[in-house]
Amino acid sequence: MQRPFAAITGLGVHLPSLVVTNRDFEQRLDTSDQWIVERTGIRERRYAADGETVSTMAQGAATIAMGRAGITAVDLDAIIVATATPDRILPSTACYLQALIGADRAATFDLAAACSGFIYGLTMAEGLLASGQAEHVLVVGGEKLSSITDMHDRSTAILFGDGVGAVVVSRAAPGATRGLLSSFIKSDGRLAPLLYVPGGGTAEPLSEKVLRERSMYMKMAGREVFKHAVLTMAEACDVALQRAGLDGDDIDLLVPHQANIRIIDATAKHAGIPPEKVVVTVDRYGNTSAASIPMALADAEASGRLTPGKIVLLVAFGAGFTWGSAVIRW
Ligand code: ACO
Repeated sequence: MQRPFAAITGLGVHLPSLVVTNRDFEQRLDTSDQWIVERTGIRERRYAADGETVSTMAQGAATIAMGRAGITAVDLDAIIVATATPDRILPSTACYLQALIGADRAATFDLAAACSGFIYGLTMAEGLLASGQAEHVLVVGGEKLSSITDMHDRSTAILFGDGVGAVVVSRAAPGATRGLLSSFIKSDGRLAPLLYVPGGGTAEPLSEKVLRERSMYMKMAGREVFKHAVLTMAEACDVALQRAGLDGDDIDLLVPHQANIRIIDATAKHAGIPPEKVVVTVDRYGNTSAASIPMALADAEASGRLTPGKIVLLVAFGAGFTWGSAVIRW
């Protein structure tokens, strides 16, 4: 069978309304706007309100995406929610979302691949479409990272934000040229301790010790993570391009995971893609993990940079470690 089997037919986003600036962190942590901008490129990020969760934020993004795709919730065969911050440990956030939007026919599940989750989700959706098990799959990348971020730790507090992006992935008609041209996913679980949440799960259930040590929040070895991010995102770009039979010159738009402007710049340079073809939202949204790529796609679409026929390279890296990439003819 020849690709594309799958095409993104609708895209939607939910941006929480609370904007938290670097100046806000200057008030409560030993940090500065200058340090944050120079080391990360981040100027502000969004935080969800208390009552908001990944599923409630996803409801808005999904409704927009389905409207754009010209379908309703009952047309969905599956819902995949990529998230590291599910509403609850049990049941899946995808189940909550299903109930909120009334996707009565859908099979639903969450996908845990941290910042690479959206690309993993696209890959799973393509498999469901190609095997004939689905015609329309909703893939959501959504996070409420503010809930697992230690606001007393200056090395992580400034990095993360909340938000949701959603796409409808539909089966491509035979002979179609628009859609997913290639994809690549990979992991290395030996590197898990470099970026993880030690407590609050089943390995170390919530206890006084967990609370005292604040181990229910993300712990990260920033410099190590940085090095691996640059290496794995470079590998991921190479493989997706090679599988699509393309090189950097063929790419109209690079949409990388938005963790740090220096990682984004290094990735673009490696792939031979000039800065004017790179989508950057990290300055406004910070690192929103699984949400960052669909939020960046929505940003590029809203500003007129992402139009039908464009060749787009997606690339991501995250906790696990996980990494992945995809080439799409939009
Ligand atoms: N303000 C001021 N100083 C700070 C801050 C801050 N917010 N944070 C750390 N520093 C200090 C450190 O304490 C250290 O001080 P010291 O030299 O006196 O010990 C100094 O700045 C340098 O610290 P480094 O950690 O070496 O700084 P670095 O240049 O590596 O930048 C950063 C840190 C931004 C975290 C970077 O390492 C990075 O972006 N890493 C990758 C992070 C990433 O991509 N994570 C997400 C993966 S995605 C996911 O799965 C969620």
